[in-house]
Amino acid sequence: MCGIIGYCGSNHATDILLDGLSKLEYRGYDSAGIALSQNEQRIETIKTTGKVQELRNKVMALAPKNSYCGIGHTRWATHGGVTETNAHPHSNGSVTLIHNGIIENYSEIALELAKVNKFPKSQTDTEIAAMLFSHLYNGNPLETIETACAKLEGAYAFCILFADHPNEIYCVRNASPLVAVENEFGSYIASDMTALIEYSKDYFIVPEHHVAKLTKNGIKLLNFAGNEVKPTMLHASWDADSAQKNGYAHFMLKEIHEQPDSLLTTIMPRIKNGVINFEEEQIPDSLFMNFSNIVITACGTAMNAGLVGKSLIEKVLRIPVSVEPASEFRYGDPIIDDKTLVMIISQSGETADSLAALHLAKERGSKTLAIVNVKGSSIARESDYVLYTHAGPEIAVASTKAFTVQMAALYLICGKIASVRNLLSQEQLHTFIEELSSLPKVIETALQLEPTLKEVSSMLSETSDCFFLGRGLDYPLACEGSLKLKEISYIHSEAYVAGELKHGPIALITDQVPVVAIVTNTITVPKMISNIREVKARGSKILVITDQDMSAYPDVADALIELPKTDELFTPFTISVAVQFLSYYVSLHRGLDVDQPRNLAKSVTVE
Ligand code: AGP
Repeated sequence: MCGIIGYCGSNHATDILLDGLSKLEYRGYDSAGIALSQNEQRIETIKTTGKVQELRNKVMALAPKNSYCGIGHTRWATHGGVTETNAHPHSNGSVTLIHNGIIENYSEIALELAKVNKFPKSQTDTEIAAMLFSHLYNGNPLETIETACAKLEGAYAFCILFADHPNEIYCVRNASPLVAVENEFGSYIASDMTALIEYSKDYFIVPEHHVAKLTKNGIKLLNFAGNEVKPTMLHASWDADSAQKNGYAHFMLKEIHEQPDSLLTTIMPRIKNGVINFEEEQIPDSLFMNFSNIVITACGTAMNAGLVGKSLIEKVLRIPVSVEPASEFRYGDPIIDDKTLVMIISQSGETADSLAALHLAKERGSKTLAIVNVKGSSIARESDYVLYTHAGPEIAVASTKAFTVQMAALYLICGKIASVRNLLSQEQLHTFIEELSSLPKVIETALQLEPTLKEVSSMLSETSDCFFLGRGLDYPLACEGSLKLKEISYIHSEAYVAGELKHGPIALITDQVPVVAIVTNTITVPKMISNIREVKARGSKILVITDQDMSAYPDVADALIELPKTDELFTPFTISVAVQFLSYYVSLHRGLDVDQPRNLAKSVTVE
C-alpha cells in the first residue's frame, strides 16, 4: 500500500522525507516522489518510478534548494500504470498533494472538471483530487478541504501543500491511515509509526474528517468548523530498532526468529494465576457467554489463522464457527445477528475489506471482537472489543510472527470461552493453558529446524507448481504454507485437503509437481500415508512435515521435517515455523526480493 511522509520544522526536509520513505518501503510500492515547499510560493516536485534509492539519486542530482517543509510518497498503483507521470505528488494550480486510498467517484469528478476545460495529465484518481482541490481553492486551505472532501467518495489520506501557504502541510483522512508526532525539531506525519518512531514514541492518529495542520512550531488539529481539537495521544511500546533488520539478512527472517518473544508478550500477560484473564483488555466474560455462533472474517494469512481458530473452537468447544474472506463477507449478506460473535483478524488493522466487514457486522447488531497487531488502528478502534497481539512491527510483506500470535490470540479466546461456559474440566483447562504457556519455548526449539529447511528447500526451488496437503487442523497450515510460498517465490501452489486430491486435482500430479504433506493429525495419519503414496506413485517428490514417528513408512518421504513434539492441538505453531522457513529459503534460492515481493503490499487499504 502507498506510503506517506510529511515534515515541517527546523531541519532540512529532503533527508527526513527520503529516510521516511525508505522505512515505508515495506508497505509495497512501484514509484516514489517528494515535493518541497520553497519560500517564494514555489513547490518543487521530484518523482521517479522504481525504488526509493532511485529517487534519492535523482534528488541528489537535481540538488533542490534547501527546504524545511515537504511531503513524500511511495505509490502502490491502483489507477494507471507504473509511470513517472502517475507517481505522486500530483500538482494542479496552487495545490500539490499525495494520497493513499481510492477515490471511488473520480470519474464523475473528472467529467465535471472537463466541463470547465480541466483535464488530467495522468491516469490517476489522485490527480483528479488535486484538480478538484485546486478548482475549489479560495485561498483558505481549511475551507477548501472541507468543500472538496464533501465531494469525494472513497478512502483517502491526503497531505497537501498550498503554494501560497509555504511551510505548512494540511492533512486529512477518511479510512486510510495517518499518524502524527512532533518534537523540538518540528512536526511529522506518516502512514504508520515505522517512519516516525525515531522522532517520538508519542503519537496520535489523525481523526477522520479533521485537518492536521503541520508547521515548524507544531501540529494544530482542527475540525471542519475550524475549531482546535485536542488529539488523543498514544505511546508506541516498541523502538526504532524493532523496525530495523538488526543483523538479519531480511525482515522476514528476523520476524520468524522473533516468534518466541512475540508469543511470550502476547500470551503471558493474559494468563494470571493459571487462568486466562482479559481484564486489562476490558473484554467482559459476558461477551463469551451470550453468543450462539461465531463468524471469523479476515484476509490472506489472517484468514488462515481464522481457519485454525475454526478447527480449534469446533473441536474443543463444539461451538459452530464459520470463516469468511472479508471481501466476500462484506458483500455476501452474511447470516449474522445480535447473537453472533464476529471476530475480525488483521495485523495492520487497516485492511479495507476487513474494516468494511467490521462495519457490516456492527450494522447487523453483532458483537465484534478484533484481533489486531497495530495499536490504535482503524479496526482496533472501531471494534466493540480488541485483543491486541504484541508482535511489534511486522515489516516483511509475508506475515510470519503476526500469524502465530493471531493463532495464539484465538487459543486464548478458546480457553476463555471454555472457562466461562465450563466446557472443559479444570484439569483439561489447566493442561490447555500449560500447553499455551509453553509455546514460546516450543517455538524456540522449532527454530532449530532452519538448517534442515534451508537444505530441503532446494526440492521446490526449481519447480513451477506444487501442492500442500493436510487434513483436520493441518489443512489451514497447508493453506498458510501455500500462501507463503506463492507470495514470495512466485511458484504456483495449491493447498488441498488430502482426501480431495483423488477427486480431480491428482490429474495435475507428475514428477514435475512436488508435494508438501503436513502430517500431525493423529487419527488421519494412515489416510495421509495412503494419499502420499497415491501421489508418489505418479512420480511426485514428497516433503513430509510431521511430528509423528514415520519409521513404519520408510518409503513415503523424499525429505522429512521432524517437528518438536507438542499436544496435537498445538502443532499449528511448529508447522508454521517449518513452512515459513521453507518459503523463505525457496525465495532466496530463486534470488527474489523476500521482503518486498512483486505486486504485493503489506497492508491492503484499498478494495
Ligand atoms: C500475508 O503473508 C499477506 N501479506 C497478506 O495475505 C495479509 O495477511 C493480508 O493482506 C491481511 O492483512 P492484515 O492482517 O493486515 O489485515
